[in-house]
Amino acid sequence: MIKHATIEKNATLLLVLSLLVVSVGGLVEIAPLFYLENTIEKVEGMRPYTPLELKGRNIYIREGCYTCHSQMVRPFRDEVERYGHYSLAAESMYDHPFQWGSKRTGPDLARVGGRYSDEWHVEHLKNPQAIVPESVMPRYAFLARTEIRVDDIGDHLKANSAVGVPYTEEMVASAPVDLLAQANPDADGTEDLAKRYPKAQIRDFDGDPSRVTEMDALVAYLQMLGTLVDFSSYKAEQNLR
Ligand code: HEC
Repeated sequence: MIKHATIEKNATLLLVLSLLVVSVGGLVEIAPLFYLENTIEKVEGMRPYTPLELKGRNIYIREGCYTCHSQMVRPFRDEVERYGHYSLAAESMYDHPFQWGSKRTGPDLARVGGRYSDEWHVEHLKNPQAIVPESVMPRYAFLARTEIRVDDIGDHLKANSAVGVPYTEEMVASAPVDLLAQANPDADGTEDLAKRYPKAQIRDFDGDPSRVTEMDALVAYLQMLGTLVDFSSYKAEQNLR
């Protein structure tokens, strides 16, 4: 291999040839992506977050829940048996920023919606050790005492629409009303809310119907995670490794 020895002994030649190899490899990987219309497979059932869910998501990020919880079920048998169908890209298409995470001090939450009752979540968030004595999760009792801020929700919807979430002007305009209506089944406007956001769960989430708190928002968010796509009709299960 005399020729190879020549290349190895000539730093400039080695550099030029390495760059050539790397650029060809890069082009082969990257170029096809420009010709795809969309790298996210369309999935039925996905819709933008309701104003109350979006508030809950903002609280989730503010409190750093993602430092201990991931939101991505990976396509491995042990994960699917524990958490449910593995996550699809489309399920986080309206997440800015996404919450996939890489740290699991606690369990994955991508499909926690509907797994526990609202009361369970409220008790657990107020005092995790009362339910799981060895839990290292911090207490978030103050959320139940903190009334939700309503006046800025329209701006949150607008910010999301600026990065591509399909919120309409009507949704932005009615965001404050929708936010309060979701936590109060007796309110006017719950029907409009349900029409705008199919599958929205409408009820008092924190056990205190007299006011809407940050606890309402966070529990509303947790209870919808992973519930929008109907997997009984989805056949991707066969792709399981
Ligand atoms: C310091 C790490 C840590 C932080 C921060 C944290 N958690 Fe947890 N979480 C855990 C651990 C550990 C568990 C498992 C034990 C338990 O249930 O308390 C858990 C369990 C949970 C569960 C039950 C999941 C299941 O499937 O049983 C939920 C829901 C949850 N956390 C939500 C949250 C939310 C919402 C936040 C932010 C407000 C948060 N956690 C912040 C560590 C954390």
